[in-house]
Formats: sequence, structure tokens, C-alpha cells
Amino acid sequence: MDKKTVLSGIQPSGSLTLGNYIGALKNFPEFQNEYDCYYCIVDLHAITVPQVPQDLRKNTLEVLALYLACGLDPDKSTIFIQSHVHEHAELAWVLNTITYMGQLNRMTQYKDKSKKYNESINAGLFTYPVLMAADILLYQADLVPVGEDQRQHLELARDLAIRFNNKYSDTFNIPEPFIKKSGSKIMSLQDPAVKMSKSDQDKNAYILLLDDKDTIRRKIRRAVTDSENHIDYNDNQLGLKNLIDIYSSLTDKKAEEIVAMYQSKGYGEFKDDLAEVIIESLDPIQKRYKEIISDRVYLEQVYASGAVKAGRKASKTLRKVYKKVGFVPKTDITK
Ligand code: TYM
Repeated sequence: MDKKTVLSGIQPSGSLTLGNYIGALKNFPEFQNEYDCYYCIVDLHAITVPQVPQDLRKNTLEVLALYLACGLDPDKSTIFIQSHVHEHAELAWVLNTITYMGQLNRMTQYKDKSKKYNESINAGLFTYPVLMAADILLYQADLVPVGEDQRQHLELARDLAIRFNNKYSDTFNIPEPFIKKSGSKIMSLQDPAVKMSKSDQDKNAYILLLDDKDTIRRKIRRAVTDSENHIDYNDNQLGLKNLIDIYSSLTDKKAEEIVAMYQSKGYGEFKDDLAEVIIESLDPIQKRYKEIISDRVYLEQVYASGAVKAGRKASKTLRKVYKKVGFVPKTDITK
């Protein structure tokens, strides 16, 4: 029987956070043995907000090295850079023509980002979810592991697949989101009402995967909690709830277990232990990362062969799509 397909991607817009790791990246390797996996670094998405070109190049390789350091194996998964597979932009164009403006207007991430960049909202930011749908549908993905903030974009991808299939005949698989119950929305350490994000102005709001031990200890110590001074897991103690979620995701202990462990203890002791849990989880990743990032030849090999494998599948889907919408097939006279 054919393996089912998994696809996901992360933007190379700055260093990755603990939120990216717990909500997405940590889950990627789990699929490698049972699924046909595609993991991309979505640089086309990244340029929908201002980027410094040399930083974008550097960040793209950094995310690639983090993928590998977190356990993605290029012999098992297809790991590639989105802009190396031109079919993404091409399918996005076709999907744009069946997407309603009203749908895109309702996207909460667009609303949030356009508030933040209100002087220079570009059309790419608006049609971003259509490109994401193209990423997913090109590979006929069955499952898309993401954090909670991507649920609405996944809904759009499903919607566009169904609409295209109804309009032209069965072409796309309908993808399902894979969003874990716990850890799919890690919140800011400074304001538990907003998600942890690498674009936060306040550096204490997030932990980066490459933060050193002292920085991690300092940020956790400064994390906002409350004045109850009693360890519990509830919506009145959101800061603490978030810290327990992080602890739970990294140790596979249930929230109730953690609450029981710290019943008679103070926030200080819980935070000290949490910092060590994070350090222990990130330390092996950081060590592998350091080795991998310095091996440019290896990184190039990984993304070059990934682009070939991804391109094969993507071109097959795009060819079908072009045929269905009525484009004249290209004749290759060089053969
Ligand atoms: P991006 O780059 O913002 O984030 C990458 C992944 O990390 C998850 N994530 C979080 N999870 C839990 N808590 C958080 N605080 C947190 N912050 C981020 C995101 O949900 C995501 O899974 N549009 C996507 C990238 C993308 C994509 C795709 C994903 C483009 N094409 C196709 C899947 C399939 C994005 O901006 O993710």
C-alpha cells in the first residue's frame, strides 16, 4: 500500500522559537518512518514582510540545519527550500483564481500582520494563505503538522482543494491538519494572552532554540506569572498554565502530574526546574546544530537533492492542474 503523505514548512524569518519547536518541529521526525514526508523552508512566504537579503539567506540555512539537528533525516524525508521548486508559485497563481477576496479578508493572521505593517501592506501578505495551500496541495498531502495558529490556513487549503475538484474533477487530496492537544499554542513569556513569536519586540517574551543556558534561565525566571503563589493549571493563571504546558510538552508528563509534583512548592523552584527541562531538551539539538551549520557542503547536498525529489512530485501535480484548467501542453523540442 502507498504511504500517506505529510507536508509542513517553517518560515526562515529569524531564529526559531520554543513555540515553533513544540508546536511543529518537534513533531516532524515522528512521521518519518510511516509517511512520505516533505518538509520545506518557506522562503517565498518570508518575503511577505520586509527581509534583509543576506539575513534571509543565512536564516534559511539556519532553519535547514535546525531541521536536521532536530532529527529530520534526508534519507527518510524530502527536505527542501520552497523557492527551489518553482511549481509552488505557479500553483499559487492558479489557486488565486478560485479564491474569494472575502475568504482572505477573514484570515486572522493577515489582519494581525497588516495592523503591524500598516504602512506597507503588500498583496503577497494578503494572498499568503493561497501560497500555503499550494505548498500543501502540490504534494497531495494527507496530514499537515502545524501549531494552532495555522488551523484557519489549513481550512482554506481544504476549501480550495474541494472547490478545484468540484470545478474541474478530482485532482487534489483533501489534507487534514495535525494539531496536538497540548503545546500547539505556546504563549509569550511576558504576556500569556498572545502567542510566543519570533517577531515580538520584547526578547524576554520568547526562548530561541539557540539561546544559551543562562539566557534560558533568565527568561524563565522573568516569565510573567501571578500573585496566587500556588501551582495550579487553570485559566485564571494563564502565565503559569503556559509554563506548565511547556514543561508537559518537553517531558511528556501530564499537566496534572506536574501540578501534583509542585503542590507544596513555590513558583521559584518550579521555574528553576522548568529552565533545566528546557536546557536538557535543547542542549543536544544545539550541539548537533553547531556541527551541521559549519558543514556547508553537506547542507547544500541536502537541499539540492531535496529540490530534485520535491520537484518530481510537484511537477506531476502541476501538469495535471494545467491540463485541467485548459492550458496547451508545452512541447519540448530540445529532446
Ligand atoms: P511559522 O513559520 O510562523 O511557524 C512555523 C510552525 O510553528 C508553529 N508555531 C507555534 N506553535 C505553537 N506555539 C507557538 N507560539 C507557535 N508559533 C509558531 C506554527 O503553527 C507553524 O506550524 N504559514 C506557516 C508556514 C507554512 C506552512 C506551509 C506550514 C507555509 N506553508 C505549508 C505548513 C504547511 C507559518 O507562517 O509558520
